[in-house]
Amino acid sequence: RTVYVNGAYLPETEAVVSVFDRGFLMADAVYEVTSVLGGRLIDFAGHCARLERSLAELDMRKPACFDALLDIHRELVARNGLEDGLIYLQVTRGSPGDRDFVFPDPDATEPTVVLFTQSKPGLADSAQAKTGLKVISVEDIRWGRRDIKTVQLLYPSMGKMMAKKAGADDAWLVEDGCVTEGTSNNAYIVLNGRIVTRALGADILHGITRAAVLRFAREAQMEVEERSFTIAEAQGADEAFVTSASAFVMPVVEIDGVTLGDGAPGPVARRLREIYIDESL
Ligand code: PDD
Repeated sequence: RTVYVNGAYLPETEAVVSVFDRGFLMADAVYEVTSVLGGRLIDFAGHCARLERSLAELDMRKPACFDALLDIHRELVARNGLEDGLIYLQVTRGSPGDRDFVFPDPDATEPTVVLFTQSKPGLADSAQAKTGLKVISVEDIRWGRRDIKTVQLLYPSMGKMMAKKAGADDAWLVEDGCVTEGTSNNAYIVLNGRIVTRALGADILHGITRAAVLRFAREAQMEVEERSFTIAEAQGADEAFVTSASAFVMPVVEIDGVTLGDGAPGPVARRLREIYIDESL
């Protein structure tokens, strides 16, 4: 596999980053994941716009290659012959040459930029979409700026491990009694045909897939309500689902051991998944 590091396309075994890189030492870094279907990038403009915002919110300089990111994504897809899968992009504040809590001088320190591809054959017709996910709820103890897509993913990672241990697939994070989002996706319930999902704020990531799916839902005359909901409300809902660049629209069929409806993916989630994939191809 060829990866991109700071302007160079290299075999993955030769790609290196300094031990003083602030992404490594401080999680001082932001990232994006863009999916690829049939060799084509999905929603690249949205991911690029969110990256720009994440950088700005952290007073991080845009890397010199920022305007070339689309070309770099395409080049990696071509070099790796990627049909279906993901492109991971990370930008760190760089490697100032020593460990320090204080940000380095932005004029003296180049941001580190890394991109790599992950092949996921058959991404669009995943077996999991046919059976749906089981989720458990866990307390959301992440920091307060979840709208910035930082690489601080230890707690989301622990959430997935807690889910696995409990025999489930993923965790929904709960704060002040309401669901914020999934460990790596946005969360939705469906009540009497109405799609309910938490409103945007600093407490959740502004999903690029969320924006697209809500637009498609409204275009298809489905009702959308952006408000918080509890686990109890979700357990009594007709259906539930999550969205992300890597899972598209993924049905949820069980929450904390309670089966939703007949335990099969619901019609709204299935339809939105179909529309999202159709529109992306
Ligand atoms: N995760 N919420 C969180 C906490 C996320 O990590 C993600 C994405 C989303 C969905 O955002 P989008 O639709 O833009 O992918 C919501 C990516 C896929 C990941 O970490 O791999």
